[in-house]
Amino acid sequence: MADDPMTRFAPEHTVECPTQDAARLLLGGPVTLVTSTYRGRPNVMPLSWHMPLSSAPALLGIAVEQSRHSVDVIGHAGEFALNFPKRPYLHHVQYLGALRGEDIDKIEAVQWETFGATSISAPLLADCAGWVECQVVDRQTFGDHVLFVGLVVAVRVDPSAYDPEARMWRQGEEDERALHFLGGHHYATLTRPLEARLPQDYEAPEHVLRERIAEQLELSREAREKREEALEALRDEVQRGNVVDVDEIGLDIGHSVPGAPPLDLSKGVILGGD
Ligand SMILES: Cc1cc2nc3c(=O)[nH]c(=O)nc-3n(C[C@H](O)[C@H](O)[C@H](O)COP(=O)(O)O)c2cc1C
Repeated sequence: MADDPMTRFAPEHTVECPTQDAARLLLGGPVTLVTSTYRGRPNVMPLSWHMPLSSAPALLGIAVEQSRHSVDVIGHAGEFALNFPKRPYLHHVQYLGALRGEDIDKIEAVQWETFGATSISAPLLADCAGWVECQVVDRQTFGDHVLFVGLVVAVRVDPSAYDPEARMWRQGEEDERALHFLGGHHYATLTRPLEARLPQDYEAPEHVLRERIAEQLELSREAREKREEALEALRDEVQRGNVVDVDEIGLDIGHSVPGAPPLDLSKGVILGGD
C-alpha cells in the first residue's frame, strides 16, 4: 500500500501544547505557511497577516487576499493549519509565495514532507518550528482581504525552537529559529532577546512621585526661610537709618513675601534691587 502522508504520525521530538499557546506562537510576528485541503487537493500559502483574537476560547485571525486560491480551499474545507517554517526554509517560503495553488500542487512541487494533523484534514509540513490547527468559525470581508477566524483545536511545537514551559520562542541555534517577513524578498530571525526589568517596590511610580513632591516642598520651605531672614536684616538696617545695598545681600525686593509686614522705608535708603 502506498505511504499516505495523512497517516504519518507527528515526529517524535515534537510536543503538544495547550490551545492558548497558539497566541504565544504568533508573538513577534513569524511568517506562517497556511495549509488547507479540499476534496483531496492540498494547498499551501505563505502568510504574515495573522493575529490572536481571544484566549478562551483560543481564536486567531488570518487575512487572505480575496483572489488567493486559498480563500476557496479554506472556505470550502472550513479549516486550516498554520505551520511555522524555520530559517533553512527561507527560499521555499519565498518560492511558495510566487505560485498559485490553482495551477499546481505546491507541496509536491517543493517536495516538502508532510504528516497527519491531530484534529483536521489539512496536512502539516514536517521540520517546522510549530503547528496550529484551526476550525473556521467566522469569515468576514474587509476591503480586499477575507478575515478567517479560526478556533484553535490543536497546537504542536518543536521544543528546540519553542520552549513549552516558558511559553515563548527560544533564541537558540540560528537554524531552529522561526522566520520573520520584512517585505519584498527580505526576512529576518530574532537574534537579541531583551528582558524588561520590573520596578522594585521603592521604585514604584507613586512612591517616586511622593518623594519628589516632598523634596520640592523642602526646597521651597528653605528658600522662604532664607528670604524672611534677609528681609528681617534689611528691616533692622533701614530702622537704624543705614544705607543698604540689596544686591549685596542677594535679596530681590521686587516680590513680597506673603504674610510679611510691609517695609517702612521712611528712615533708611535702599540701593540696587532693580
Ligand atoms: C512572506 C510572505 C507573506 C505573505 N503574506 C500574505 C498574507 O498575509 N496574506 C495574503 O493574502 N497573501 C500573502 N502572501 C502572498 C501569498 O502567499 C501568495 O499570493 C500565494 O501564492 C497565494 O497562494 P494561493 O493562490 O495558492 O492561495 C505572502 C507571501 C509571502 C512570500
